[in-house]
Amino acid sequence: MTDRDAGVRYVHPEWSSRWAFVLAATGSAVGLGNVWKFPYMAGAGGGGAFVLVYIFCVALIGVPIMMSEIMLGRRARRSPVNTMRVLAREAGASPIWQLVGWMGMVTGFLILSFYSVVAGWTMAYVFRVADGAILAQSPLGVRQAFGALVGDPRQGLLWHTLFMLMTTAVVARGVRAGLERAVKLMMPALFLLLLALVFYAVRNGAFREGFEFLFRTDFTKLTPAVLLGAMGQAFFSLSLGMGAIMVYGSYLPRRSSIAGTTLVIVAADTMVALLAGLAVFPIVFANGMEPASGPSLIFQTLPLAFGQMPGGAVWGGLFFVLLVLAAWTSSISLIEPAVAWLTEARGVHRAAASALAGLLAWSLGILTVMSFSDWAFEFKFLGMQKANGFFDILDILTTNLTLPLGGILIVAFAGWVMPRALAGEELDVRSRTAFELWSWLARYVAPALVTVLLVFLLLGNYLYA
Ligand code: TRP
Repeated sequence: MTDRDAGVRYVHPEWSSRWAFVLAATGSAVGLGNVWKFPYMAGAGGGGAFVLVYIFCVALIGVPIMMSEIMLGRRARRSPVNTMRVLAREAGASPIWQLVGWMGMVTGFLILSFYSVVAGWTMAYVFRVADGAILAQSPLGVRQAFGALVGDPRQGLLWHTLFMLMTTAVVARGVRAGLERAVKLMMPALFLLLLALVFYAVRNGAFREGFEFLFRTDFTKLTPAVLLGAMGQAFFSLSLGMGAIMVYGSYLPRRSSIAGTTLVIVAADTMVALLAGLAVFPIVFANGMEPASGPSLIFQTLPLAFGQMPGGAVWGGLFFVLLVLAAWTSSISLIEPAVAWLTEARGVHRAAASALAGLLAWSLGILTVMSFSDWAFEFKFLGMQKANGFFDILDILTTNLTLPLGGILIVAFAGWVMPRALAGEELDVRSRTAFELWSWLARYVAPALVTVLLVFLLLGNYLYA
């Protein structure tokens, strides 16, 4: 590899250890996707059917793609755009591969724009729950309180702005000072509180019903919408398909096991999602609520649980604080590819690059803020009724289309374009069988599955529209 194309003075940063990378990547993966999105997607997708497909996708698609992203990033040690460009050149392939990096950057902005708005609601809930007002309410009251928050664009905008400032501030401080520090404490703490919530659900909720809803598979519920939604959720939850994990991989010191690292991240991410589901659905059924109520689900259920718990205001407040932190360690990875590119290829100062990226995502976020009030509009997608205009469009476009597309291209590049010997050396898996397994998943299984599911999307549009 030559360094001709890197600026002379630019030095690519590095994590302080492999452990720091594991924390950062887990921080990126674990976020609102697990605690907010997974339960409501599972609720809308009929529970067990969705969960089963989701777990399949995580194992067969998520794992090989995550390994590929880390490997490509670590080999090239550049932003995703330049990683793809340099590695394509190294393999004698077309420079057009760098489009994968560009698409990822755009996708990151689109996702961050709505992610920040939802993280903003989470921040607002810290105060609502901690002061106890929302906890004394009936299920109807809790629902109305959520409606009042998202229906007021001024509040939505305020919290969205605050969250975006927090995100930009960490990204501006850079890899070690900013990203690493942020994740070390919060992940274990969130995990423990989720366990406590599940424990509560076992004792006081309709746990059995919730459990069966999540794990009993009713195959009649497997519609194209559910299949596609579950695949998209696997990409979203694992932060795959847009270069977030790739850019984190580019800061990874050499000589650390990519396969082992991937398994740790994937296991943690899946555990947190399932725990969130186990915490939420018993409350849903104990209170006769609707599992398919959409993005408002956790905001309508969790306050009820905290309301009945001794010390609920404290625990609830703490829970939402941790959720904000989890969202924070995720949001930073959404603009890191763009910031890395601006600093490395354009010589922009990191602080300026972060501010620029934050401003762009913030402006786009206004579309989502307004989607729950003045600009709400309904439409039908794959047989699903969608009610929140731009928010739903941004979500569907990224989660169900550009992330899977980026993911296929990344994994196909790693499996087919990159010379096999190189991939083997980079992945450095101890056994030959493990390498063959990765190669088989990366070359055939993952690309074929994603393609089939994406075709479902297009066909489903006709069949179910
Ligand atoms: N995975 C994060 C979550 O579950 C969100 C996220 C961070 C993400 N970076 C990403 C999603 C990159 C897709 C792509 O909350």
